[in-house]
Amino acid sequence: MAKIGVVGAGYVGLTSAVCFAELGHDVIALDVDAKKITQLQNGSIPIYEPGLEDLLNKNIQNKKIYFEIEVSKLNDCDYVFLCVPTPQDTDGAADLSYVLKAVRTLSKILKKNSILVTKSTVPVNSWKSIELTLNRVDVDIVSNPEFLREGSAISDFFNPDRIVVGCKNIDSAIKVAKLYKNELAEVISTDNTSAELIKYASNSFLALKLSFVNELAALCENVQANVIDVLKGFGKDQRIGEHFISPGPGWGGSCFPKDVKALNIISEQNLSAMSLLSATIESNQKTLKRIVDKIERILDNNLVEKKIALLGLAFKANTDDVRESPAIAIAERLSDRGAKVCAFDPKVKTLVNEKIIIAKDLDECISDSEIIVLLTEWPEFKDINPETISNKLKNKVIFDTRNILIKDLWEKSGFLFFGNGR
Ligand SMILES: NC(=O)c1ccc[n+]([C@@H]2O[C@H](COP(=O)([O-])OP(=O)(O)OC[C@H]3O[C@@H](n4cnc5c(N)ncnc54)[C@H](O)[C@@H]3O)[C@@H](O)[C@H]2O)c1
Repeated sequence: MAKIGVVGAGYVGLTSAVCFAELGHDVIALDVDAKKITQLQNGSIPIYEPGLEDLLNKNIQNKKIYFEIEVSKLNDCDYVFLCVPTPQDTDGAADLSYVLKAVRTLSKILKKNSILVTKSTVPVNSWKSIELTLNRVDVDIVSNPEFLREGSAISDFFNPDRIVVGCKNIDSAIKVAKLYKNELAEVISTDNTSAELIKYASNSFLALKLSFVNELAALCENVQANVIDVLKGFGKDQRIGEHFISPGPGWGGSCFPKDVKALNIISEQNLSAMSLLSATIESNQKTLKRIVDKIERILDNNLVEKKIALLGLAFKANTDDVRESPAIAIAERLSDRGAKVCAFDPKVKTLVNEKIIIAKDLDECISDSEIIVLLTEWPEFKDINPETISNKLKNKVIFDTRNILIKDLWEKSGFLFFGNGR
């Protein structure tokens, strides 16, 4: 068993810390947010991630995980994972300052011959700045990008498609891969630069795929094709694949928008501009606009003072994360066009945004609304019975941007039903 330190107890750091503890390692997780640390010490998690709180409490009881704010507590760790934010800078590039700040403090305290692991998503060649800032010849730097998806983070940790480890010293890379105790996952051992690029390439390609599918949905609508059938036929081609090809209101979240922009800038700076990336970003903006325009058209080209009920605020189901959520972008645009926007999300209960009223429940959200717009694919929205809500609405109109509802069922109940691309 190894002694592992984790710096940054957010979505990635907390999940990794808890899962490493579950694998039997001794883990200390660190955060600069003292309130968060106290909450975690008491066994409660500040985010919604299925199964994570139970696993945390089990490992607190087994004394396999501890939470601290003092960086010096990591001085006897064999491995220290960096899981701090790498947000977007004003120009769209990734901001490395949180990473380098953490590295500066670790430089003085890391155990001799320990390994520093970068799990944060960092721009290509960041490992060189990390090495320079760390200034410790005895400590190897392993780039080990994280691919977990919020909402299925635990399962993704234990069943990854691959474990990527990049290092100058292959022995250190393999040691880090072995911490995951996973015989099934393929280990991709490479240099640091390639490991860093794998993460950006993956997220950017996924965003590109979604932009393509969203544009296809728009075309389907205009030529009266059914995007659901088109994608079924398209995805069955094994070279394309059936995963991650569902149209929606636009892509968002804490990773795709910043990672696509960062790779776009990296490609330009390195004289290899990837024009598909600018197109991917532009296409996503077009999708958001298309959804808002469609709502306006449905409501006779006038949104002023009309109550719109939005189902979902999180950027996808099974998370409470609203960072760069397309639902929020759409809500704000509707409000800017004069609509009264009321939203209900099973997990997002507070939001500092004067343009959006948060309803306490579904009933409050939909009552007297002119249209219901489903924006996040929460499974509970599939169970809404159109019969029982009909009398609460001003108009029986619904727009399902995720194509998760059964059209016939809603139409049988007298609803005017709009899907996305069909
Ligand atoms: N969220 C995801 O789904 C996901 C998936 C893969 C990769 N990533 C990447 O992982 C990194 C972390 O993302 P996240 O979503 O977990 O971020 P987050 O904002 O949820 O958590 C980061 C945590 O780091 C803490 N922190 C900041 N500076 C610190 C310091 N010097 N010392 C200790 N703690 C510090 C913050 O207080 C915060 O709790 C980012 O680079 C992100 O791009 C995120």
